Amino acid sequence: MSIFLDSSRIEDVRKFHAMGIIRGVTTNPSILLKNGFRGKLENIRTHLTSISDIIQPLPLSIGVTTNEQEEMSEQAKEISSWGKNVNVKIPIHGPKGEVENLEVVHRLETKENVRVNVTAMMNAQQCLLAALAGATYVSLLGGRINNMGYDTIEEIKKIRKLLDDFNLKTKIIIGSVREILNVGDWLNAGAHIVTVEPKFIEGLIIHPYSKETVQMFLDDAKKMELESC
Ligand code: E4P
Repeated sequence: MSIFLDSSRIEDVRKFHAMGIIRGVTTNPSILLKNGFRGKLENIRTHLTSISDIIQPLPLSIGVTTNEQEEMSEQAKEISSWGKNVNVKIPIHGPKGEVENLEVVHRLETKENVRVNVTAMMNAQQCLLAALAGATYVSLLGGRINNMGYDTIEEIKKIRKLLDDFNLKTKIIIGSVREILNVGDWLNAGAHIVTVEPKFIEGLIIHPYSKETVQMFLDDAKKMELESC
């Protein structure tokens, strides 16, 4: 079980990697946009390869930016060449439900030596099919599932059991954290990995009573010094 960082900001990557608490990094086009990047993926190659260098050999997920199968395949091979630890995020299907993405996933994994993270999934059955196609990672978006009125924990339990029963090596990543509590709950439910935004990682570390306690230690240490004079 482990925690990945869901961010494309170098400062975040350096900070949490230096603490030794993350075991990988995930990005997607929306995260890149939110983090202030503009332009085509090739233009941010240097930035993304810097992240790959900082965390290697830990894995880095980078998403494709096209829905056209041939272009997707070429883009995935290009992205994958940016680092030995880079895997490529491909959505389970297109925006209109076009299912050919799994053919691309299968070809990349079995013939092109490209590691794939199949993303944008909302239930265990999608994850099973992606795993059967050969995906290294399957990404379920927990917060979005809960927001639709389904139970992420139940989906995690189902997919973990299916992967174990089918003896598939695919790892489950749960993204879309909405509350700090999600992290422990989803790992306990059977997720191999939860990918977490910086603000929630800090939320996992910081506790108001710890702050108060540390302040008490510092105040008392000062008093101790003063009273010895
Ligand atoms: C992770 O891999 C996902 O891309 C990410 O966590 C999605 O989160 P969102 O639902 O907040 O966009």
